[in-house]
Amino acid sequence: MKTYAFPQSFLWGAATSAYQIEGSPLADGAGPSIWHRFVRTPGLVKNGDTGDVACDHYNRMKDDVALMKRLGLTAYRFSIAWARVLPEGRGRVNEGGLGFYERLVDTLLENGIEPLATLYHWDLPAALDDRGGWLNPDVADWFADYASVMYQRLDGRVKKWATLNEPWVVTDGGYLHGALAPGHKNRFEAPIASHQLMRAHGKAVQAYRAVGKHEVGIVVNLAPKHPASDKPEDIAATQRADAYMNRQYLDPVFLGSYPPEMKEIFGEAWPEWPAADYELIRQKIDFVGINYYMRDMIRHEETAWPVKTAVVPQSQSTYTDTGWEVHPQGLTEILVWLKNRYGNIPQYVTENGAAFYDPPKAADGKVADPLRLGYYRAHLRAIHEAIEQGVDLRGYCAWSLLDNLEWSLGYSKRFGIVHVNFDTQERTLKDSAHFYASVIASNGAVLNTD
Ligand code: BGC
Repeated sequence: MKTYAFPQSFLWGAATSAYQIEGSPLADGAGPSIWHRFVRTPGLVKNGDTGDVACDHYNRMKDDVALMKRLGLTAYRFSIAWARVLPEGRGRVNEGGLGFYERLVDTLLENGIEPLATLYHWDLPAALDDRGGWLNPDVADWFADYASVMYQRLDGRVKKWATLNEPWVVTDGGYLHGALAPGHKNRFEAPIASHQLMRAHGKAVQAYRAVGKHEVGIVVNLAPKHPASDKPEDIAATQRADAYMNRQYLDPVFLGSYPPEMKEIFGEAWPEWPAADYELIRQKIDFVGINYYMRDMIRHEETAWPVKTAVVPQSQSTYTDTGWEVHPQGLTEILVWLKNRYGNIPQYVTENGAAFYDPPKAADGKVADPLRLGYYRAHLRAIHEAIEQGVDLRGYCAWSLLDNLEWSLGYSKRFGIVHVNFDTQERTLKDSAHFYASVIASNGAVLNTD
């Protein structure tokens, strides 16, 4: 039988993001974000749900950290709401909002949990959106200034910083297809938003080198793309899908250029950028965070604008509640791919998890979520395999610690290992949380049992 063990320093974490769990979006002098506006536009979020209360984490932070401790977590990945710290997005620092993150970090450290901070998880200050948001080239400086405020205040206590969470989703959801804030649908805006995100990343890394003493990196979401047939048009479509999602952001960071397929995808909407921008984006980083949820089998689809690809359902596969194919081998594959393409940089799985239907809490207090539990078992085996194949993987975060606001799907999809009753705010560990705790406690040894 195979035995599982992880490196002694391996970080066992869970992840959340500010807008999805905190609630109290305008408390203590915070400014509104683009999500505060987006949820208030009728028809954009399922059931009219908002993040006004969410998991009320802003008021229950200490109890939630106690929960993390109970699970045995050694790391916690959270994001900082830019508009809590800088209500207008730039200029005046709001001590009230900043204080929340200081208290969070202190509480984590008191409990022996390493804080992993993400500076941008999709909640741009609304005041900056009024100035063009991610389309305005000045956004790179605004972001670096905000990042510097956070580094100066917290770098003594936070040793791992991520600049952006998933620039692909920010652009694809926010500027190309419009399903996420700020809700634009514009083929000409998308390449600009992507590029300004990456310039902002570059400037935030430069700012880190000026004041930071530890590690800074970026978080991307990756999904292996496989051709659904051996037809040449499906193979070409797979290359485009792979460039669009997997290489668009990592190529400029590590190789100093965008994939050639980007021009093919966006045509006249794909601009030429100054050489200096590529220098800026290609800053040395200390780690890559990978968010992994699915793999995609791809075919050519002429009408699918603008990438001209479609995902082909696999009859033998399990799908999650968000319609994503469960494919644990894809996690091993993508971590090994990253190492082979970009070098053996330290990696963290910064998100991995699944939405499945959860039954109501049973009389004995249990929430049985066998599909999620099985998902975690299989994916934790998959990261072990990646380590065996030589990937310098240093930690793993389950997405998510808590059921939370799944963006425009509202509270209809539950990703938590901890169940949240949104009427009472009661937290209940699901079976998957107990399982994950046992993996942590045994340093992976229990992964050899079904
Ligand atoms: C995001 C999370 C989101 C999760 C599930 C990731 O793309 O970073 O905010 O809730 O996937 O959709």
